[in-house]
Amino acid sequence: MRDLATNIIDLSAFRRPYVGNAASPFRYPGGKGFLTPLLSAELAKRFDGSRPNFAEPYCGGAGAATNLLLAGEVEQLFLNDADRRIYSAWRAMLTETDRFLERIMSVEVTLTTWDDALIRLYETSLPDYDFELGFATFFVNRTSRSGVVIGSGPIGGYSQEGRWKIDARFNREALAKRVRALGALRDQVTLSCQDGLEFCRELAQHQKLSSTFLFIDPPYVGAGGRLYYDGMSEDRHRDLANWLSAGNAPHWLLTYDDHPLVRENYSKFEQNLIDVGYSLSRKRSEKELLYRSSIS
Ligand SMILES: C[S@@+](CC[C@H](N)C(=O)[O-])C[C@H]1O[C@@H](n2cnc3c(N)ncnc32)[C@H](O)[C@@H]1O
Repeated sequence: MRDLATNIIDLSAFRRPYVGNAASPFRYPGGKGFLTPLLSAELAKRFDGSRPNFAEPYCGGAGAATNLLLAGEVEQLFLNDADRRIYSAWRAMLTETDRFLERIMSVEVTLTTWDDALIRLYETSLPDYDFELGFATFFVNRTSRSGVVIGSGPIGGYSQEGRWKIDARFNREALAKRVRALGALRDQVTLSCQDGLEFCRELAQHQKLSSTFLFIDPPYVGAGGRLYYDGMSEDRHRDLANWLSAGNAPHWLLTYDDHPLVRENYSKFEQNLIDVGYSLSRKRSEKELLYRSSIS
């Protein structure tokens, strides 16, 4: 049986020059900043010292991608997320950096700002891009219990009587430093806002995928609808598996929640498990599946 062949990847075996999600200004449920050392080792094996492009079709907080960019290990980043809120946040940070920095320093970190921001995020018709939407997304991400999660309240609760208050994760200086550092590298980042598989297909048309690494961290099959504003149908998860199985991209690594559908979709690839330390308010540690293209 395939399951018996599952490898457990010991992440402590990889050098750890990066600290968690250090470069990304986001807190992210399921964020993969902690995989940076493993991804770095993977790039070294595959690209023999030359700097590849790095693409994240479901980028969220792009924890690993931004760590690798700042470390100078990748040439061009392609970040895509179907959620216009996330896209607007990235675009606002990278293309209106000074305005974003000014707002980080001046925004009142209060329940009123949190309420106003949340109302903006829940608007039914969202613009393609909007600075205010982007900043509201970032603000809610930094001041809510679980980052960008539907239904999670402000840090410290509505009464603000807890030990942690709403500004516990809003260290202005530290956040400004991250945004400034990424803003300075904006020429190396290409942003887009579309379905992840469409993004992969388009990338394949415009880039040489032989020099591009795809790090694919789709919304969870099991809890996707609960954690993120945008989710994926089971058919869409299958389409992605078919696209990868067809050999369209030579270099990819994929992480997923441990779900029977995922095990079935990727049964022809070597199956690995990794420990995922969640930094959500409900602290839990689970295993996720990890697959990767073979190295030819
Ligand atoms: C597991 S998170 C990615 C976390 C990211 N790797 C990190 O380190 O922060 C999945 C992301 O996929 C996005 N998403 C959901 N459905 C999508 C789709 N069909 N196409 C592209 N992105 C999608 C969600 O908005 C969410 O940001």
